Amino acid sequence: MRKSLDKELVVVTGAANGIGRAIAERFISEGADLIVADRNIDNAKKLYEGNRQVVDILQVDATNVNDLEKIAESVRRTGRKLKAVLPIVGNGPTSPISEVTPEQFHLTMNLNVFSAFFTVQKVLPYMSDKSSIVLISSIAGFQGGKNAIIYNAAKAAVRSMARSFSGELAEKGIRANAISPGPTDTKAFTAFVQGDDELRDHIVSQLPIGHIGQPSEIAAVALFLASDESSYVTGAEIIADGGFTNR
Ligand SMILES: NC(=O)c1ccc[n+]([C@@H]2O[C@H](COP(=O)([O-])OP(=O)(O)OC[C@H]3O[C@@H](n4cnc5c(N)ncnc54)[C@H](O)[C@@H]3O)[C@@H](O)[C@H]2O)c1
Repeated sequence: MRKSLDKELVVVTGAANGIGRAIAERFISEGADLIVADRNIDNAKKLYEGNRQVVDILQVDATNVNDLEKIAESVRRTGRKLKAVLPIVGNGPTSPISEVTPEQFHLTMNLNVFSAFFTVQKVLPYMSDKSSIVLISSIAGFQGGKNAIIYNAAKAAVRSMARSFSGELAEKGIRANAISPGPTDTKAFTAFVQGDDELRDHIVSQLPIGHIGQPSEIAAVALFLASDESSYVTGAEIIADGGFTNR
């Protein structure tokens, strides 16, 4: 059976851990050739060096536009067209409203909004006329969760950008969609619960599906959106939250 991304070139940022790593690994198993980028080059090399489907491993700070140009340059060097781009980098410090600093504000916007926008903008000239942009928003982008006002706003901007990319790029054959994960079991989530088992159990109790999302479950959604399986889907958002927001 033909694999859904057989010999297709794909860019994934934030690929050295968590959701980005799960996406990269799933896409490799689906036959894709990858350009992976992450700030944590040691981890990225540990995971991908020697893998014949990994075309390039780039050390990139996704908040730095010069670094993002390195991704575009890497795509250009392949002489190939890009099937999909997945700027997965994102996060942000938590703070009550009164304690948000200008530095936290800019860092959170840069990590989530700037990085997604400029990763896509830089590789656009290399995208094929049947390709896909997959952004990572969050259920935080439509909820008013406490102590995360800037992250929530940043993820709302990411959802919005998926729609704007889709509207402006449809005529080029480029689709754009967003995934909004709920709590997903990554290092970032572990850092958020900070070893507090009660908090973790409380979060699980709020998930009708009965378990915290696994990165592989988000990767499955990403695969659908990145491949031609979703050829009629653009400007959409898939919520993958175990039923959290509709409980
Ligand atoms: N984990 C969750 O519960 C959850 C829920 C909703 C949305 N998300 C979103 O999913 C995405 C991935 O989150 P995760 O939980 O897998 O995170 P993670 O911390 O487990 O992994 C993030 C990866 O990005 C890399 N990275 C961080 N900052 C970078 C930068 N400036 N430049 C380049 N690389 C950088 C890290 O080195 C790491 O490899 C984020 O956009 C996050 O907001 C996560």
